[in-house]
Amino acid sequence: MNIKAPRGTQDILPGDSEKWQYVERTLGDLCRRYNYKEIRTPVFEHTELFQRGVGETTDIVQKEMYTFEDKGGRSITLRPEGTASVVRSFVENKVHGSPNQPTKLYYFGPMFRYERPQQGRTRQFVQFGIEALGSADPAIDAEVLALAMNAYQELGLQSLTLVINSLGDQESRDNHRNALINHFDPYRDELCEDCQHRLDQNPLRVLDCKKDRNHPAMESAPSILEHLNEESQHYFAQVQTYLDDMGIDYVIDPNLVRGLDYYNHTAFEIMSNAEGFGAITTLNGGGRYNGLVEEVGGPETPGIGFALSIERLLMALEAEGVALPVDDELDCYFVTMGSKADEAAVRLIYELRKAGIQVDKDYLGRKVKAQFKSADRLKAKQVIMLGDDELQAGNVNVKNMTSGDQQEMKLDELVPYLKHELAGGE
Ligand code: HAM
Repeated sequence: MNIKAPRGTQDILPGDSEKWQYVERTLGDLCRRYNYKEIRTPVFEHTELFQRGVGETTDIVQKEMYTFEDKGGRSITLRPEGTASVVRSFVENKVHGSPNQPTKLYYFGPMFRYERPQQGRTRQFVQFGIEALGSADPAIDAEVLALAMNAYQELGLQSLTLVINSLGDQESRDNHRNALINHFDPYRDELCEDCQHRLDQNPLRVLDCKKDRNHPAMESAPSILEHLNEESQHYFAQVQTYLDDMGIDYVIDPNLVRGLDYYNHTAFEIMSNAEGFGAITTLNGGGRYNGLVEEVGGPETPGIGFALSIERLLMALEAEGVALPVDDELDCYFVTMGSKADEAAVRLIYELRKAGIQVDKDYLGRKVKAQFKSADRLKAKQVIMLGDDELQAGNVNVKNMTSGDQQEMKLDELVPYLKHELAGGE
């Protein structure tokens, strides 16, 4: 039998999992500073949530969802993204009733999309995302963008471009929609089948088409920025003023269209400019989604957020040659000489571990020389040596593997000695 992991999934093994932990810790710490709290939602939801939330006309809903019927005959979907679930939970748990508004949340978790796998695009990927619900202040748009940029900065990424756009409010989008239909209608027959549908259902999606990307009508398509009403223009200008105040660079791209239907006003993506990053350069995407909470059955509540995948983040770090400060050393390794000492080591390392010390030993009956080799391979900082004779006398030897210094001591001095040494000898 030769069973492999399903296409578009990957295992994260030791050596890499430490990088994941480091990134997740750093992002979690950052959220604490910005006062975003963690939320955990199920990995599957009722299919209808994504149909309504993400939007019927999106590629995600039309082509990419892992949908199945459960044994009770319900249509269930593995979540393709986190926003709809967070909003569902916000409504269901009546979080909007709390006096602490806006509600500022973050999440980590696997998402599932049936896409064509390639570098940076998998069928299961882990998103880190944030959502701020309950405020329509452009300052919170700026805060969300600041947190995103701050996250990359904190991890050491430099070659980034923040691209922003405004999709405006409903009135602006309706005006733009009509302008798009008028613009593309004469070319209807030249567009792909999907775009012909899109033109009727959601003409904005035409701008996002990979097949018709090079059609001459794309270049000259009317821009949303030309159709923003005064209020939407003012909102977008305020977001930019805050970004300018914080010294956060950005580029405005009137053609930036997001792949999900719930956006309005501020929309953004963060791209990697690192050489060798590959064809897909979007590290992060997000925007404002006023109206989504009502769509999911809650009271009128504005919202904004973003998500990034840890996979693409790690790819960007690698492309920029950033080495994460992950600790792959072992504090102590126990080397035993003789069967009595080897048996006693089981209890002794238990005591050390309970005292908070990281320690390991040999479990393959290796000879002393091979045990030292293991200690080297595991990058042990201290080697604790115990022979049958020392055990009898209640003594133990500890060797500092960096300096080579060796110290004999009573067994009951071992914990304080190791703690002192591992704290840097202070
Ligand atoms: P999205 O643009 O669909 O937005 O995904 C956000 C990020 O998830 C992308 O920029 C990318 O880093 C990562 N990503 C998406 N698909 C894949 C894939 N197949 N493989 C690897 N990484 C992937 C959302 O999901 C929205 N929920 C973001 C949001 C939150 N908007 C408001 N709040």
